[in-house]
Amino acid sequence: MYSQNEKILKFNAEQLEISRKKLWDKYLVDQFFDFINVKKGQKILDVGCGTGWMIRMIASHIGEGDFYGIDIDRNLLNVAGEISKENNLKITYDVQDAYNLEFSDDQFDLTVCQFVLGNTTNPQKVLREMIRVTKPGGLVVCIDAGLKERQYNWPNVPKEVYDIEIKTLKAINQAAEEKGYNKQLGMKLPELFIKEGLKNVDVFGKTNIHLDCAVNKDEIEKTIESREIMMERNKRRFQGLKERGVLTDEEYNLYFDYWEKTLESFKKNPGLLLKSPNMTLSVMVIARGQK
Ligand SMILES: C[S@@+](CC[C@H](N)C(=O)[O-])C[C@H]1O[C@@H](n2cnc3c(N)ncnc32)[C@H](O)[C@@H]1O
Repeated sequence: MYSQNEKILKFNAEQLEISRKKLWDKYLVDQFFDFINVKKGQKILDVGCGTGWMIRMIASHIGEGDFYGIDIDRNLLNVAGEISKENNLKITYDVQDAYNLEFSDDQFDLTVCQFVLGNTTNPQKVLREMIRVTKPGGLVVCIDAGLKERQYNWPNVPKEVYDIEIKTLKAINQAAEEKGYNKQLGMKLPELFIKEGLKNVDVFGKTNIHLDCAVNKDEIEKTIESREIMMERNKRRFQGLKERGVLTDEEYNLYFDYWEKTLESFKKNPGLLLKSPNMTLSVMVIARGQK
């Protein structure tokens, strides 16, 4: 099983879906498929697939193939199964531990993982497993964060709310690092790939603008929805920070009062979001290597 002292982080299905929907715009999808060059009929595995965004995207793109997604979290896999069924995608999902995949060696033409390695404390071991199950000549593709901290440009948020956001972000990242997670593992991927003997290693990065920047009218609904889901998650996370003395009750109330009122006003008047954009930037790194 996974490292004994590793607490498996829990992810929210809705949050995963909405953030992937925002991330994978048409431009990135095209760039990605050029980069990985998958073909009809191939056997493909998504490790730590969560709600299955990546394997569904690949299955929809190539149509015919043999598609698998594994994750440690059964609830996420249930959601993955439901969405795949609704979309007539035939994908086999299974509860498995990425540290000990239950596949024999040399099975897959492509083994992929998205934002998984940075959420494990021994990414090298997971990568080794991915390589083991990949066919000689097959491709291993990993996606991870390229920036330790998201970069905020929030000119339309009051300074005291912005300061709380930054303070909590730093506290959460620091706690993760202390537990052994690398919040910018993307920057290490080429080195890890080469160390594990992968060939033809290549990498590209993409800047993502997300959350509160509605860059056009079509984005407004997604942006509000994403922020609402984020608020629910933050309520749980910030509660923990209050208990650890990082946040005071006043700061907690100020933060959520502001966002609740702001989201209400955005819902009533979506045009406000176009007039007062706040950008949050992150960088994703996509690396590939051949076995
Ligand atoms: C940030 S989520 C990414 C989910 C999905 N790849 C995506 O991009 O939407 C990280 C995923 O890794 C899974 N995970 C973490 N440790 C794992 C392990 N040891 N074995 C299998 N899955 C694991 C989590 O349950 C979660 O679904």
